[in-house]
Amino acid sequence: MIEMGESKLTMAVPPLLLLTLLSLPSLLIHAAISDAYPTIPGTAPIDGGFSDELKPIRREVYGEGKIFDISHRYTPEMPAWESKEGIGRFLWLAASMKNGSLANNSEMKIPTHTGTHVDSPGHVYDEYYDAGFDVDSLDLQVLNGPALLVDVPRNKNITAEVMKSLNIPRGVRRVLFRTLNTDRRLMFKKEFDTSYVGFMKDGAQWLVDNTDIKLVGVDYLSVAAYDDLIPSHLVFLKGRETILVEGLKLDDVKAGVYSVHCLPLRLVGAEGSPIRCILIS
Ligand SMILES: *[C@@H]1O[C@H](CO)[C@@H](O)[C@H](O)[C@H]1NC(C)=O
Ligand SMILES: *[C@@H]1O[C@H](CO)[C@@H](O)[C@H](O)[C@H]1NC(C)=O
Ligand SMILES: *[C@@H]1O[C@H](CO)[C@@H](O)[C@H](O)[C@H]1NC(C)=O
Repeated sequence: MIEMGESKLTMAVPPLLLLTLLSLPSLLIHAAISDAYPTIPGTAPIDGGFSDELKPIRREVYGEGKIFDISHRYTPEMPAWESKEGIGRFLWLAASMKNGSLANNSEMKIPTHTGTHVDSPGHVYDEYYDAGFDVDSLDLQVLNGPALLVDVPRNKNITAEVMKSLNIPRGVRRVLFRTLNTDRRLMFKKEFDTSYVGFMKDGAQWLVDNTDIKLVGVDYLSVAAYDDLIPSHLVFLKGRETILVEGLKLDDVKAGVYSVHCLPLRLVGAEGSPIRCILIS
């Protein structure tokens, strides 16, 4: 009965950005009370408004301290590029049991570069976009494997000098850069902030020329500092080997070596995608 209802309901939903998600009442309720987004991630579960008997546990860390969720929750109040208002309402219940449907079915609409997300080469190179270098073409072997989480100096953007000072050994292929953005909790602030820390063009160039890093992760919405927005992206994405993961949640994880696992959606034709990333120690 439920099976039939589900397939009937999902049939009418267009592909790509409009996704039909089953069993999302908890997310919806969470979205409605998103001011309850925890001030200290990794602490108490959010009060989802359920009774005590029926209450989901929301975690930042799983598996007895071994698995860290480094993706941000999608809420209306999470920051959006150059917006004061956050991403706003992006999820709604298109069919609900309260209104007589066989199941609850949510729909959503969001820019692909929202929250924790990945950029493909088509993001800043039109010819790559036309040639099909979308998020479906990204190498999962780059997005998954041993990774280094490093703290960068808090008083600078990521320049060539900063990159050099980090002394990241050759052979390291995946690095997540924790910056002042994490200390400032910028991803938890609704208003977009142009003063975030990111790569300056010379820092990006230094990384491409002098390291084996192919996965670059950062803790705000762009890998590039606002002042060098396009130049840094051009440097990183030119060779089509470097994958950029942005908006990571790097709070409350120790610097060091982990196994990173990042999986983008297979959005054909999209130069960006929300991505779920975890670290396993
Ligand atoms: C969604 O489904 C549940 C049953 O699984 C039902 O209790 C709830 O009222 C529904 N929500 C809405 C808004 O219809
Ligand atoms: C149910 O339908 C009514 C009337 O169309 C509408 O006002 C209400 O928002 C709907 N509720 C849900 C949860 O879809
Ligand atoms: C980083 O660069 C931005 C401009 O892109 C600037 O506003 C910010 O102050 C810089 N941060 C640091 C720590 O130097």
